[in-house]
Amino acid sequence: MRIVLIGFGTVGQSFVKLIDEGEDYLRNRYGLEFELVAVSDIIKGSVMDPEGLDKAELLKLVTKTGSIKSYSQNDSGFDSVESIRKSDADVVVEVSWTNLETGEPGITHIREALSLGKHVVTSNKGPIALAYHELNSLAKEKGVQLRYECTVMSGTPAIILGSEGLAGNKVMGFRGVLNGTTNFILSRMEQGATYESALKEAQGFGYAEVDPSADVEGWDAVGKTVILANTLMGARLKPLDVKRQGITGITVRDIEESKKRGGALRLVAEAWTEGSKVEAKVSPKTVDSRDPLARLSGALNALTITTEGLGDVTIIGKGAGGVETGHGIISDLIAIKRLSGH
Ligand SMILES: NC(=O)c1ccc[n+]([C@@H]2O[C@H](COP(=O)([O-])OP(=O)(O)OC[C@H]3O[C@@H](n4cnc5c(N)ncnc54)[C@H](OP(=O)(O)O)[C@@H]3O)[C@@H](O)[C@H]2O)c1
Repeated sequence: MRIVLIGFGTVGQSFVKLIDEGEDYLRNRYGLEFELVAVSDIIKGSVMDPEGLDKAELLKLVTKTGSIKSYSQNDSGFDSVESIRKSDADVVVEVSWTNLETGEPGITHIREALSLGKHVVTSNKGPIALAYHELNSLAKEKGVQLRYECTVMSGTPAIILGSEGLAGNKVMGFRGVLNGTTNFILSRMEQGATYESALKEAQGFGYAEVDPSADVEGWDAVGKTVILANTLMGARLKPLDVKRQGITGITVRDIEESKKRGGALRLVAEAWTEGSKVEAKVSPKTVDSRDPLARLSGALNALTITTEGLGDVTIIGKGAGGVETGHGIISDLIAIKRLSGH
């Protein structure tokens, strides 16, 4: 399977490390060989080799110099769109920045790849939250696959559970804790920390960004809620359609109140059906102590999908991290091989 990688940050580098170190296992177990034919990153540089790039050398270079511009072969300097056009690849792995307002640059990358008849695997929430239906129709028209497992709960298989595992079961709604940073902060506050000190601790562990607003104001969870509602329930929501309240106003007193009521305060992402409409919301809520979402501590994520035939099905696991996301990308690539015979 010939791959173009767009974005060589945390996820891009973890993915390359995993396919390099796991080469024998992936060949023996799945009959899969990954040839990395191009890597394009807006600052670190772009390189291309139809014979396959040396993954270990790329990783060594980026770790040492923060760039891949001095890679030993000289077919380089293309931007991301040129890399998709010029490389003779089967799959584009799109792991550039998420932008939940415009979906760019991801939408352009994915549209370009699908138009050229290439499969796409992405962990980028922006394009899937804003343009899933358009991009999926294009994929169908071109006879290729668009896979986005890692946009929700990273490598924990939430999307494939809802779309393939539960296929044939009507999804009536879902409830989840889909943002690890806010769950970590709320869990620490349950143990007595203030919001400010819990946030600092989350930043120290690398869970929260220096600018934590996407997490603590609920936007990250909104993006994931839209993706789940649109792809599992056939909704046509945009991020602004989701009612949103983050955790910035939560105090230790609110946490105590929830405890007194026999539950735990969580940032809950949910969607439900009202007549023929799908409604969605992200907000801090007291969940009953018997609920799997209440028992979730630290940076873990959980998702309960409510189906017509099976009732509730819950999945719990890690929701972020380069390695976790890299594994999810490999699982999408294996699914492409299985379904399209690559
Ligand atoms: N990290 C996680 O745990 C996780 C989990 C699930 C999903 N995701 C999603 O996966 C994606 C990648 O995450 P990450 O943590 O790897 O982020 P990251 O470390 O910031 O990496 C993103 C990379 O994309 C590059 N980039 C941005 N625009 C580009 C363009 N137009 N062409 C080529 N490269 C471009 C950036 O370049 P420079 O930085 O060199 O400028 C950066 O190296 C994001 O969309 C994120 O939301 C991440």
